[in-house]
Order: sequence, then C-alpha cells, then structure tokens
Amino acid sequence: MVKVHSNKSLKSILGMTLITAAIGLTACSGPTDPDVKARQDIMKSYGDATGIIGDMVKAPDTFDAAVLQDQTSFLAEASKNPWAHFENQEALGNATDAVWSDKETFLAESENFQQVTAELDAVAQTATSVDDFKPAFGEVGASCKSCHTDFKVKKDS
Ligand code: HEC
Repeated sequence: MVKVHSNKSLKSILGMTLITAAIGLTACSGPTDPDVKARQDIMKSYGDATGIIGDMVKAPDTFDAAVLQDQTSFLAEASKNPWAHFENQEALGNATDAVWSDKETFLAESENFQQVTAELDAVAQTATSVDDFKPAFGEVGASCKSCHTDFKVKKDS
C-alpha cells in the first residue's frame, strides 16, 4: 500500500515537472527569460552600487574609504557579467535591436565600461576624499548613460 501510494506521488511529481518544463519553454522569449532576468538583476545591482557611491559624492563628509572600495570592487568585478546574457536575440527584454544589429558598438561600450570601472576601483584604493574619485566616478556614470542611449529602451534612465 505504501508502495502504491509513493508510486502515485512520483507520477504526480513527474507531471508537475513536465508542466514546469513546458512553462519554462514558452517563457523563453518573454520577460521571464532567464538571460533577460540575469542581466536585469546585474544592472539593478549596478544601480544599487552607483547609488551608494553617488550618495557619498552628494555628501562629501560621509566619505568612507571601506564603503567606497566595497562598491567599486564590486562594480569592477560585476562589469564582466551581463554580456554573456545578450546572446539570444529573441530575448529582447528592454534591450534595443541595436544590441544585435550593431554588435560591435555594443561590445565596445561594454569594454569601455569594464575599463572605467577598473579605473574607478584603482583610484578608490588610495582615495582620501570624494574629490579623489569623483572624476573617475563621473566616467562610470557617463559609460552607463552612453550605452543606455543606444541599447536600452527609453523608459526611466
Ligand atoms: C554596454 C551597455 C550597458 C552599460 C555599460 C550599462 N548598461 Fe544598464 N542596461 C543595458 C541594457 C541593454 C539594459 C536593458 C536590459 C534588458 O532589459 O534586457 C540595461 C538595463 C539597466 C537597468 C534596468 C534593469 C531592469 O530591472 O530592467 C538599470 C537599473 C541599469 N541598466 C543600470 C545601469 C548602471 C547603473 C550602469 C553603470 C554603472 C549600467 N546600467 C551600464 C546596457 C548597459
């Protein structure tokens, strides 16, 4: 009896797995596409990090080297992450077609971003005030903006 019962649950578990798989497949080109979600999550984390640094810039007396370095090293590291999630052209999300039609410029933008975040992180290691890293932080902000201009659907930023 126990055996029959467990067979039954196994069947329903398998059924559930199939349903989940089917939902997963149809969602592939929709907003819940795993690549779209992954890159949007990374982008959101950029927003969090630049928000923390930006707050420090707005209130220079709150300068804290450890907090700054935490965020800049995160940005430098995470700057490498989203680009592999832009392979599938069907998974548009809020990216513009230009990501694929002008792949070269998109790639150049992503490489520039990795460079300016590395530079910001380097500057942050010896910064003793907001003035020391403000120009490098400005370069990072300009890089976000420059890429969004052509490659992100205009909504908020
Ligand atoms: C090389 C291009 C590029 C760079 C550099 C870049 N982004 Fe983006 N960003 C995009 C694209 C493309 C999207 C749209 C992604 C999607 O919806 O699939 C996006 C989306 C976003 C979003 C919305 C995420 C969501 O929840 O939908 C935020 C926030 C964001 N970026 C912040 C930033 C910040 C902050 C920086 C700089 C520190 C930055 N991005 C740098 C291309 C870029």
